[in-house]
Amino acid sequence: MKMEVRLQKLIAGTGLSSRRKAEMLIVSGRVSVNGRIITELGTKVDPTRDHVKVDGKHLTSAQPFVYLILNKPKNVMSTLDDPGGRTTVKDFLRGVSVRVFPVGRLDFDSEGLMLLTNNGELAQALLHPRYHVPKTYLIKVKGALSNEEISRLERGVKLEDGMTSPSHVKKVRKVEANSWLEITIREGRKHQVKRMLDAVGHPVLKLIRIRMGPLSLGNLEPGEFRFLMDREANALRELIDERMTSVERGEEPATRPKRPIRREGWAKPERSKKFSGKKVKAT
Ligand code: URA
Repeated sequence: MKMEVRLQKLIAGTGLSSRRKAEMLIVSGRVSVNGRIITELGTKVDPTRDHVKVDGKHLTSAQPFVYLILNKPKNVMSTLDDPGGRTTVKDFLRGVSVRVFPVGRLDFDSEGLMLLTNNGELAQALLHPRYHVPKTYLIKVKGALSNEEISRLERGVKLEDGMTSPSHVKKVRKVEANSWLEITIREGRKHQVKRMLDAVGHPVLKLIRIRMGPLSLGNLEPGEFRFLMDREANALRELIDERMTSVERGEEPATRPKRPIRREGWAKPERSKKFSGKKVKAT
């Protein structure tokens, strides 16, 4: 039986490269099929029979990549095992037969979006500080921050391991003596958000990661997971491709949001938006 797929789809399906990058590899003459350089985009290949090479190396992975997001509940370890016997994220992945690994950590008492995948290369790139992948946290803090304190957080605060790079802070709402904020950072230092808020005198009482790059937690309940949709997995790969390209070109990725920063009112929290994606297994 013939199992033909488009060449760019086959290359993109093996991992790090997005469809766009795969197309670029083909048109720039870096892909060969059965020893012949192919530059035509529509070319169909049979992965069970044809020998595809990129830059002279065989395409390795025949294994499909799996990506899922879990809403980690609080008081759960973000690792797969805990020598102390505490509950870990693995305990919430019932029915997932592929071995997936968490991309980064959340503190034991933090909640929210955790990406898990068996695509090690993509995971490493997402965590690499040079690619500045934004992560947004919905946090409840003690008291209410003044505009000056918010500006300090956004410009960068001094922590014991150095200044933080620029962040973005949005006021969400006030609740009696405390308040909710969204903070977006592009670094991933240990306890970073808690330490930043401590530095401006407003300790974090609750922390929920709601976004990571193009991924949103949506309305997944704590302890629930879902597989990423194809378009979400592609968006992740594209984000990394773009960042790699701009780093290669010596351009610094934007570290500040383009839209103007609102200071005054208290906005609606992002978590109230309904998620309307269908659940499918991504590869
Ligand atoms: N920053 C923190 O302080 N804790 C987390 O779990 C994540 C980010």
